[in-house]
Amino acid sequence: MNILVVGGAGYIGSHMVKRLAHAGHRVVVLDNHLSGHARIERYAQSVDGDVANPTLVRELLRAHAFDAVMHFASHIEVAESVVDPGKYYANNFAATLNLLQAMHETGVRRFIFSSTAAIYGNPQRTPIDETHPAAPINPYGRSKWMVEQVLADFASAHALQYACLRYFNAAGADPDGEFGECHEPESHLIPLVLRAASGRRDAITVFGRDYPTRDGTCERDYIHVSDLADAHLAALDYLAAGGELRAFNLGTGIGHTVQEIIDSAHAVCARPIQVRDASRRAGDPASLVADPRLALRTLQWKPRLSDLPTVLQHAWRWELKCVQSPA
Ligand SMILES: NC(=O)c1ccc[n+]([C@@H]2O[C@H](COP(=O)([O-])OP(=O)(O)OC[C@H]3O[C@@H](n4cnc5c(N)ncnc54)[C@H](O)[C@@H]3O)[C@@H](O)[C@H]2O)c1
Repeated sequence: MNILVVGGAGYIGSHMVKRLAHAGHRVVVLDNHLSGHARIERYAQSVDGDVANPTLVRELLRAHAFDAVMHFASHIEVAESVVDPGKYYANNFAATLNLLQAMHETGVRRFIFSSTAAIYGNPQRTPIDETHPAAPINPYGRSKWMVEQVLADFASAHALQYACLRYFNAAGADPDGEFGECHEPESHLIPLVLRAASGRRDAITVFGRDYPTRDGTCERDYIHVSDLADAHLAALDYLAAGGELRAFNLGTGIGHTVQEIIDSAHAVCARPIQVRDASRRAGDPASLVADPRLALRTLQWKPRLSDLPTVLQHAWRWELKCVQSPA
């Protein structure tokens, strides 16, 4: 198939581009390189530009007969979204609306959207399945939920086929060591712990040890980035076969606490990791764990690399590469 990957130079998008190319698809990447700098040129045609640009997007869609669009481009910092909501609604919502309208005008009918567990807000129950009410508690989560609602309207009005893939915590790196996580600033736990191990930062801070979990630290569900890419391929096949379910949680169904991540990272890296304790942060639920059974059953997808040692080994190899040749 002919696929447009928006945000394909970013962390998850770059793994997707490689996976699509290996599966024999023809890939075009649109990215403004604001936060993503992966060198994807051997796997895709790269277009440098902004998805908010109406002319550029329409020209691109007209120039290629895309069978589907995968949309990874967004701002992703929850804390920043609270202090600068306009930035998030503009990029995550309004720019996506521009893309969807352009797709409608040019007759592109399949869309796979990078959604997030953040749409569930403070969960009423865990593990979280897709029937759990959406109640995002920050502009980042709300911007994603707004897109999901617009997608439902476009499906009714314009027969758009779409899937919202609600990732829990993306983690790990390309098993070949070619791509990995490179957010600046980095706010995700695993790369921060590994930076503390490699010496790129002095310590990892644990926010709260009084949560109602096994060891008092917060619990999250980590899914390997290559398994996320596999799920997108499965969703593409599902849509092509006329599948009609629209939202899927992507996680493993197994939670790991912050302390467990630090202990496992210590075992993988065999380096000291300095830990600092701080009080709880506002808006951190104790536990966020997916019920992924709908995706497992419907997309016939199965995580292959998401066991914690594999995630950490791949992420650690990437971290060592970043230390040796900083971007
Ligand atoms: N990383 C996670 O754990 C996680 C969890 C849940 C959901 N998600 C979602 O997955 C998607 C990808 O996340 P990521 O971690 O790869 O982020 P990332 O920042 O590494 O990648 C985003 C890419 O989109 C590009 N981009 C941003 N705005 C753009 C615009 N207006 N026009 C063109 N390109 C633009 C960036 O330059 C970057 O290459 C995001 O939509 C995010 O909300 C990520």
